Amino acid sequence: MKNLVILISGRGSNMEAIVRACAHEAWGARIAAVIANRPDAAGLAFAASNGIATAVVDHRQFPDRASFDAALAQVIDGHAPDLVVLAGFMRVLTESFVDHYSGRMVNIHPSLLPMFPGLKTHQQALDAGCRVHGATVHFVTPTLDHGPIVAQSVVPVRAGDDAAALAARVLKTEHMMYPRAVRWFVEGRLALDGERVTLTPAEPQWLFFDDSQAAGEGA
Ligand code: GRF
Repeated sequence: MKNLVILISGRGSNMEAIVRACAHEAWGARIAAVIANRPDAAGLAFAASNGIATAVVDHRQFPDRASFDAALAQVIDGHAPDLVVLAGFMRVLTESFVDHYSGRMVNIHPSLLPMFPGLKTHQQALDAGCRVHGATVHFVTPTLDHGPIVAQSVVPVRAGDDAAALAARVLKTEHMMYPRAVRWFVEGRLALDGERVTLTPAEPQWLFFDDSQAAGEGA
């Protein structure tokens, strides 16, 4: 049974998707804890109501990133995680924190990395005139929004889209893709080779989603 620790900062809809999939699909894993860096993170209530241990490590109580990260690592490690799952966790992490969880920490970022790291990714994609946009699940490295790619989802950019419409379309794919990617880790199917992630046995590590028609996946 693998222990998953999920870090959130707000709404926690990706965390919720992972919690539900873990239960419904009877993964060989348990959600050991959901930890937030903000006491008002809305997702904490969902986790608690599902019987999951919750904790808050409020970054505003610490003088610098290093002391916050050290305190956070202590709380995380108290749950003996096999995998740390960043799900809308809006903090830049120090190199020593990232190194401590090397190969066992994943993140979801709402763009087709390496395009558009950082914030306001949907607006960036619109401003660049992209015809497609999406999200990426990746192993975390010390470089922000960078690291070996586990899975990517692709959606069309439509005439008339604003950032909110595009974000909503991408978020639907995040809720499908992130649980799937975490499950691959739980099943011991992911291998890291430099920047590349191999999935064994192979299946598409991408997801096409066009909600103007029926949702579909290419092959
Ligand atoms: C998602 O779009 C995720 O890709 C990004 O932050 C958002 C978090 O949403 N990192 P939620 O808290 O999972 O609802």
